[in-house]
Amino acid sequence: MERIPEPELMEKKDQVIYYDEADFSEGEVNLINQINHYLLRKNISLGEKDLIVDLGCGPGNISEKLAIKWPSTKVIGIDGSKEMILRAEYNKKISTNQKQLKNLRYICSDIKDIKSNNFLLEKKISLLVSNSLIHHITHLEDFFNTIRILSSNITVNFHKDLKRPLDEKSALELKAKCSIKYNEILTNDYYASLRASYTFKELKNFTLENDLSSLDVFEDSDKYLIVYGNV
Ligand SMILES: C[S@@+](CC[C@H](N)C(=O)[O-])C[C@H]1O[C@@H](n2cnc3c(N)ncnc32)[C@H](O)[C@@H]1O
Repeated sequence: MERIPEPELMEKKDQVIYYDEADFSEGEVNLINQINHYLLRKNISLGEKDLIVDLGCGPGNISEKLAIKWPSTKVIGIDGSKEMILRAEYNKKISTNQKQLKNLRYICSDIKDIKSNNFLLEKKISLLVSNSLIHHITHLEDFFNTIRILSSNITVNFHKDLKRPLDEKSALELKAKCSIKYNEILTNDYYASLRASYTFKELKNFTLENDLSSLDVFEDSDKYLIVYGNV
């Protein structure tokens, strides 16, 4: 199936509200566990001196879970959508986990502009994460350039995203399944995301052709891809 890009930022109010209200917690907990296992395998433990950055953080679902998992580590969630950042700030404010979230802050910025933000340079990033971001990025080089700029020799990258279905029929089947659980706006967004997603081959070839072969690409079931490792 041909890739059909979708708008990068999620800026429409209803789109943001429905995304925020949906329960994606099973997949989110799964991602935190995957990151944790990977760090354990690499003998890396995160503490006060470390910095975690969550790119395309949306309403903060993953940022909050990262902050709760590593409560002494500073976590920064970044999103280019003002609506999403407002929602993330609100979710943080009403959270019952205030104590663990004191090290979490949000920044509204397009990932392509992060290089001009000095706040990040005060500390090297230990863990650079994203979930469901890559498919929003129109040109793959914009995503990989950003993580190249933000990474140092200590940075562990862990980026999970949807995998583009093989054909339109499979995409429509996934859309139909989604519509059982979610409303029309969320279902249409999911379908647009499936069509905008990259394939294993596209991500793998990009890393190989752009001197990023220290990053690995992993097919996580038939639905997800994970780009991980050091840059
Ligand atoms: C599908 S949501 C995922 C949100 C969150 N990571 C999660 O797992 O729930 C994708 C998010 O990426 C943000 N985004 C897309 N392109 C971006 C860019 N170029 N710079 C910053 N944020 C971006 C969107 O605004 C949106 O909030």
